[in-house]
Amino acid sequence: MRRAGELERFLTASAAALRAACHGEALRVAETVIARFGAVGASGGAAARLPVCDWIAPALAGRGSDLARAFAAVEGKLAWTRRASARPDERFWDGHANAVILGPGGFEVRSDLWIGATVMAPGMAYPQHDHAPEEVYLPLSPGEWWNAAMDWTDPGPTGCIYNPPGIAHAMRSGEGPFLALWYLPL
Ligand SMILES: [Fe+2]
Repeated sequence: MRRAGELERFLTASAAALRAACHGEALRVAETVIARFGAVGASGGAAARLPVCDWIAPALAGRGSDLARAFAAVEGKLAWTRRASARPDERFWDGHANAVILGPGGFEVRSDLWIGATVMAPGMAYPQHDHAPEEVYLPLSPGEWWNAAMDWTDPGPTGCIYNPPGIAHAMRSGEGPFLALWYLPL
């Protein structure tokens, strides 16, 4: 099976950005994820856009990286969804969306990887959550991350965030939109 060109370019740009941004534990996770890029999964479901996706272009406008350009080429093909538990907070319900690029139910269906994106309008707080797999985030906009072992941090355009397995973590946007990619080995 062959992967569509824009998705292959996104993974190539992801590998380069992960290797540039990550060190230590984060780099170990990144290399585990990158090592699985060679296998190709089935194509996933249809694209679905939400109104908050209008913040993606302004978020990317500030970034000239290969990864930002590669993500811009795939984001319109993704199935953007809300967090099921976001209600009854109507402001957050309308102010965020997630999309799985590679992973269960993703644009490319995989059971060994979970790679996706989160967009938020300005002034949003993504609720504290946890999951068993460890995780690396690459920011595509300014934003702040928190976990139970780390104060609120903006890693900057060339940084990353590492969340150890099972740790409670959260993120928030500032005065502008928030856009970030997440990479988890399953
Ligand atoms: Fe997470």
